[in-house]
Amino acid sequence: ANVFFWIIPGQRKVVAALKAGQPVDPVHGKRGKQRSVHNTYFTLPVLFAMLSNHYGWLYNHGQNWLVLILMMFAGAAIRQFFVMRHGYKLGRNGHPWPYAAVGVVVLLGVVLWLKPAAPAVSAAAPAAAGYEQLHAVMQKHCVVCHSANTVAQKNVKFDTPQDVKSHAQQIYQQVVQLRKMPFGNPGALSDEERETFKRWYENGASIAP
Ligand code: HEC
Repeated sequence: ANVFFWIIPGQRKVVAALKAGQPVDPVHGKRGKQRSVHNTYFTLPVLFAMLSNHYGWLYNHGQNWLVLILMMFAGAAIRQFFVMRHGYKLGRNGHPWPYAAVGVVVLLGVVLWLKPAAPAVSAAAPAAAGYEQLHAVMQKHCVVCHSANTVAQKNVKFDTPQDVKSHAQQIYQQVVQLRKMPFGNPGALSDEERETFKRWYENGASIAP
């Protein structure tokens, strides 16, 4: 929109003024520059926001607005590194590595902040849910969207016990930590069924019959 509504129309006006032999109003150049600066710093944050909806741990958090602001700040800082790198090569400014470092530190800080607490496995933990019990819940709630026979969303399939085992940690993350699956309708899974996933995973995620 910045290019379409401000930068190109501004340029057209400048060209028209030049052709007509009239003085060029500098405001068009200034506006174009301003919008171009906005675009520069928002390139990475916008890409981030577009992809983030595939990563529930980024937007499921109670303070997800703060996660977004911090990630946008990190994106802008990293972009500043790229911008100033040209100046560095031309000898106009020092090496801009601190901007990249700040961006990366903020990114890593957010990741650590969002890290879920480790599951508390105690001796008094409820009995493990057996694979058979888990299998029954998954047949009912998961395979419609995760099977070679139907669709395999995000290339995740639950056709064999080995398939389930190989995704055990992701399953735990999606179902227990984020409470995101079944996708679009997490309420379809009762608390008891969700508990089955928790007990299964926290007791070793066995697929023995
Ligand atoms: C209505 C369809 C649907 C159902 C039902 C469903 N899923 Fe998903 N699942 C998806 C979609 C769509 C994605 C990809 C989401 C994305 O990219 O943001 C996904 C992704 C996943 C992933 C990968 C997540 C990642 O980013 O690592 C796992 C693991 C998963 N689902 C587990 C399950 C489990 C376990 C169940 C049953 C409790 C389930 N799903 C039920 C549609 C579904």
